[in-house]
Amino acid sequence: MSEAFTHTDLPHLAKRVLRLGVAGNYGLKTADIHHAAERGVGYWLWTPRFTSVTPALRGILPRERERHVVATLGMAYTGGMVRRGVEKALRVLGTDYIDIYQLGWLGRTSLLTAGIQDVLRKLKDEGKIKAVGTSIHDRPRAGRLARDSVLDAFMLRYNAKHPGAEQDVFPHLDVRRPVVIAYTATSWRQLLRPISGLEMPPWPGPSDNGPPPPPLTAGLCYRFCLTSPHVHVVLTGPRNRPQLDENLAALDAGPLSPDEEAWVRDYGRKVKARKRLPYV
Ligand SMILES: NC(=O)c1ccc[n+]([C@@H]2O[C@H](COP(=O)([O-])OP(=O)(O)OC[C@H]3O[C@@H](n4cnc5c(N)ncnc54)[C@H](OP(=O)(O)O)[C@@H]3O)[C@@H](O)[C@H]2O)c1
Repeated sequence: MSEAFTHTDLPHLAKRVLRLGVAGNYGLKTADIHHAAERGVGYWLWTPRFTSVTPALRGILPRERERHVVATLGMAYTGGMVRRGVEKALRVLGTDYIDIYQLGWLGRTSLLTAGIQDVLRKLKDEGKIKAVGTSIHDRPRAGRLARDSVLDAFMLRYNAKHPGAEQDVFPHLDVRRPVVIAYTATSWRQLLRPISGLEMPPWPGPSDNGPPPPPLTAGLCYRFCLTSPHVHVVLTGPRNRPQLDENLAALDAGPLSPDEEAWVRDYGRKVKARKRLPYV
């Protein structure tokens, strides 16, 4: 598959990474993180609680810092909490800078006060963080912040069941071109599980890895996100090495064809009609 699909140049960071980013907190072991890095993964979601990831990054980062992007998620209600979170991350990882410091779940578990923005600017000036981002579920607010804010990166819920970022956020990206990281690609695994009585036309694409959909494979979920030209990186949270390898291999199939994409969207709509979440 051409690098135009599998890799991306991240704005604000001047780094090129594989578009599948790894979140190692769902079961990967330290050796799996080394394995992922050897297979080309360069984007890592990390917090100090990702204890099996930490020893791997501590080994990898001093050797090849320029090839890797570390994005942290912090809970912060004050500038002091931001600074302490960043400085702890630097200590624990044994590195000089964090690529993207993300305010976790903006509006719920973190705030964007004037004091916090001031500290974020200072941390950038000090070279301790390169970019500032957030994970945010309030999509209209994300759209406004994408147009005008100190934020350089947005970690957004985006999947075939919840494609609302296409209306609420993506049209606002041209103004400042922030980094977009999609997560919940599998919609909390709902897209991976069979749903009884859900009628679909035949799958229009090839199905060389087991039975054709439905349900979706994890690979199709990640490829759906990456088919959007607005998404730089999609996060995968594999439970184990076989899942990691399967998800990396899925990138080789490239973007969804228009027929496959239409089918996946239709499937997501039907799943949503059947399985509602309180925060949809
Ligand atoms: N989801 C959220 O609301 C949320 C909120 C804040 C932060 N985050 C963070 O975002 C990161 C990514 O989470 P995510 O929800 O976006 O991850 P995800 O990749 O959408 O889902 C991970 C789950 O999908 C299943 N899966 C992955 N690959 C598979 C494969 N090849 N075959 C079968 N099943 C497969 C596994 O389920 P099984 O374990 O059942 O096998 C795995 O635990 C994590 O660090 C998470 O903590 C998530």
